Amino acid sequence: MIRLRRNRQFDWTRKLTQENRLSVDNLIWPVFVHDQKASKENQPIASMPGVFRYSPESLVEQIKMAQDLGIPAVAIFPHIDPAKKDATGSEALNPHNLICETVHLVKSKVPEMGLICDVALDPYTTHGHDGLYVDGKIPNDETVEILCQQALNQAKAGADIVAPSDMMDLRVQEIRKTLDQNNFQNKIILSYAAKFASAFYGPFRDAVGSTDLSAKDKALGFRDKRSYQMNPANSDEALREVELDLNEGADMVMVKPGLPYLDVIYRIKKEFGVPTFAYQVSGEYSSLMAAAQNGWVDKNRIFMESLMSFRRAQADGILTYFAIEAAKILKSQV
Ligand code: PBG
Repeated sequence: MIRLRRNRQFDWTRKLTQENRLSVDNLIWPVFVHDQKASKENQPIASMPGVFRYSPESLVEQIKMAQDLGIPAVAIFPHIDPAKKDATGSEALNPHNLICETVHLVKSKVPEMGLICDVALDPYTTHGHDGLYVDGKIPNDETVEILCQQALNQAKAGADIVAPSDMMDLRVQEIRKTLDQNNFQNKIILSYAAKFASAFYGPFRDAVGSTDLSAKDKALGFRDKRSYQMNPANSDEALREVELDLNEGADMVMVKPGLPYLDVIYRIKKEFGVPTFAYQVSGEYSSLMAAAQNGWVDKNRIFMESLMSFRRAQADGILTYFAIEAAKILKSQV
């Protein structure tokens, strides 16, 4: 008789028959940096328990620790002084802005760590949109021109990977062109190819300080990015987005959010066989964390199970705010 429980009897049979594995090599740690010199080194983020905005200097220490744990890359997000924000996000192009200075500093102190920078204007705009915002609309090509300059600015500062998260059409092609023309042929483009208009980004907007809503968005109760981010109901369209971005020169693609979109990750990896990453976003992290803090679920087990599910869905890498804790747990298991 076939009895599948036979292989589940012992630790060693369970190990031998395990189909997927999670390793520290799969983890990317998203981190926040702030520029408030007068404030504390580490600012807690109320909506993301256990996550902090670090000063550039203390971020270096954190990244050293990540490196010691074996984490291959970090994605750095800026929380800038609101006085530096404007309608066009011009601070994004300042070669001495917070992200450039931080990348430069981290590269000089922890040169082996992979550094990823988000290409999008939302941390820099007063309206919090990822692009320009004119008469209630997000003009595509005008935005892309600025994004190219932003990507170039980050490349010059030492970013290894630029990650357009804005969902404008044709941005990968234009960014690739700009980087190539400026002798940055080796800078990697990780495209947020299938990024959905999701309620799971709520706590992140708090983390980067982009919470001021326009009257229209206030009426909706959320910042409306549905004219550029994808409809959560679609997955054929996600494949088209990925195909376009690959043709335009993306080296890696990402699906975001993660857990609610495992099917999309699986389809993309199966169809294209390219490096495919998943972003376990702020709202996923905070939901699991809140339940854990209430004692309703076991924190380590629920996070490790969710991270394994990304591997089962064939994601190569996972951006997760739980990366440090996950790396420690993985280390304790060997
Ligand atoms: C914006 C950006 C967002 C995130 C990463 N880059 C938010 C958004 O699109 O509104 C979300 C990350 C998270 O929620 O953890 N370019």
